[in-house]
Amino acid sequence: VMSPVGRVDDVQELRRRRPTGVPARFVRDEDERPNPDALVPPMSTQLPLISLSRLMEGKGDDGRCELYRLAEACRDWGFFQVVEHGVDPELMERMEKVATEFFMLPVEEKRKYPMTPGKVQGYGQAFVFSEDQKLDWCNMFALGVEPRAIRIPELWPKTPPDFSETVDRYSRQVRKTCDELLSCISRSLGLRDARLRETFGEAVQAVRMNYYPPCSRPDLVLGLSPHSDGSALTVLQQSPRPASSAGLQILKDGKWFHVHPIPNAFVINIGDTIEVLSNGRYKSVEHRAVTDGERDRLSLVTFYAPSYDVEVGPLGELMDEGNPRMYRTYNHGEYSRNYVSQRLQGKKPLDFAKLP
Ligand code: SIN
Ligand code: FE2
Repeated sequence: VMSPVGRVDDVQELRRRRPTGVPARFVRDEDERPNPDALVPPMSTQLPLISLSRLMEGKGDDGRCELYRLAEACRDWGFFQVVEHGVDPELMERMEKVATEFFMLPVEEKRKYPMTPGKVQGYGQAFVFSEDQKLDWCNMFALGVEPRAIRIPELWPKTPPDFSETVDRYSRQVRKTCDELLSCISRSLGLRDARLRETFGEAVQAVRMNYYPPCSRPDLVLGLSPHSDGSALTVLQQSPRPASSAGLQILKDGKWFHVHPIPNAFVINIGDTIEVLSNGRYKSVEHRAVTDGERDRLSLVTFYAPSYDVEVGPLGELMDEGNPRMYRTYNHGEYSRNYVSQRLQGKKPLDFAKLP
């Protein structure tokens, strides 16, 4: 029996009840399945590794060199890993601990914080809109964090007891990292440090925790469908794992690349908003998650984006005769509503920003 829309099977429960089964609704069509030849390390080490503290040094040779590498990463990959980013490794570990503890709670307990249909906060699966849509092998728990007004206090778990405080502290530190990265990204575009950030108004910050149980048929399912992020900047924390092509994969030159987790590093990616603001100079790149036959996986994702009321469009400084306008100017709240009202499907939401 198919699950009705809005009442999607909980994959942890599926796995518990039937360790070897994969319901039809999770089985991807041939062309969507994880390809076994996804590029694994050492190829994946090509994903640039950037030191934020070096970037922040600014004018010295080290700083300039790092800025050049940042520009290349944003242009050619839309992704990079960052170390020396200022977030306390102990706090990163505590975040992982409280998130894992939450996902390990009985499903009835987690359902006290439900993600209701069409909404994006709470526990469940977002982006599910039709009966025949394929489902992701993933449980999600998402919370709006800043500004305070987007918080839904009833959705902040009481167990584990240090959950909320940890998310709060972590989010404050990650926000500082985002602001610093945005300064450097501005500079790498030849703009004033504050230029990108000041277009955001009161920036919106949200956190989403993704839990991927092991799957008996990782060759048939996806942990998370291919998509680009609607944010400006995304900060992803993934736990270190032995080499495997499972986990985060990004699309480059038509091929899927595995992103090898580096202890205490964040994976940063450019979201649709920076693609638009930079007039296409920096790309918001498609990515997906692939499951593993034996191991579960947790990823902790922070989305950083403009206020819903701001108008987003290519910055004037980045358009001229040689670089004509690539996107229209639109309201970011409308963009976000459009983004969350459809299933994840590659870069489709960016059609909203296309010129008439
Ligand atoms: C995401 O794109 O939201 C998360 C992908 C991952 O789990 O690595
Ligand atoms: Fe994403």
